[in-house]
Amino acid sequence: MTKRSVKRQEERRELKRRKQLILAAALGLAALVAVALLAYFALSDDESAAVTVEVLPAELSADGQQGEALFKANCQACHGPNASGTKLGPPLIHDIYNPGHHSDDAFYLAAATGVRQHHWPYGDMPAQPQVSREDVTLIIRFVRELQEANGIVRKAY
Ligand code: HEC
Repeated sequence: MTKRSVKRQEERRELKRRKQLILAAALGLAALVAVALLAYFALSDDESAAVTVEVLPAELSADGQQGEALFKANCQACHGPNASGTKLGPPLIHDIYNPGHHSDDAFYLAAATGVRQHHWPYGDMPAQPQVSREDVTLIIRFVRELQEANGIVRKAY
């Protein structure tokens, strides 16, 4: 072999090595992007499970104000301030809970016996036996007055 052809052979080998290096780097990058995308979608899925809404304040009646205090003490941990929702429970200021779809009975029943998960991905609502029927009546006033102030009105269902 001449000196020249040896040199060419070396150059070809060097080129091949570089191509392999670039390929490895590209594969590594693709793997990183795939992991990042997976993590992103897994996390954003989690967040979309928690629905929270903007709730405008209402001018509450005296009963509504009593209901607000009871709601804060017994329901807010899951249903959020002004029933705007949290990661643990849905917003009640939501069209699903307009009086035509969820009558007051749904509230009495929810507090007395709990709720099986059906509308949302949060899980079951445990019964709230510490809350009396009279308490629930006041809580319903609070929620209905807030609903009305936010344009949620009875719809035929
Ligand atoms: C430990 C969390 C938690 C607490 C505390 C809680 N809730 Fe709930 N509640 C939920 C969840 C979760 C749901 C949604 C169940 C579904 O539809 O998937 C729900 C649903 C409801 C519903 C809808 C019922 C139906 O028929 O669909 C009403 C009404 C309700 N809650 C009222 C209340 C009231 C009033 C209080 C306080 C006395 C309260 N909740 C306290 C978690 C909670």
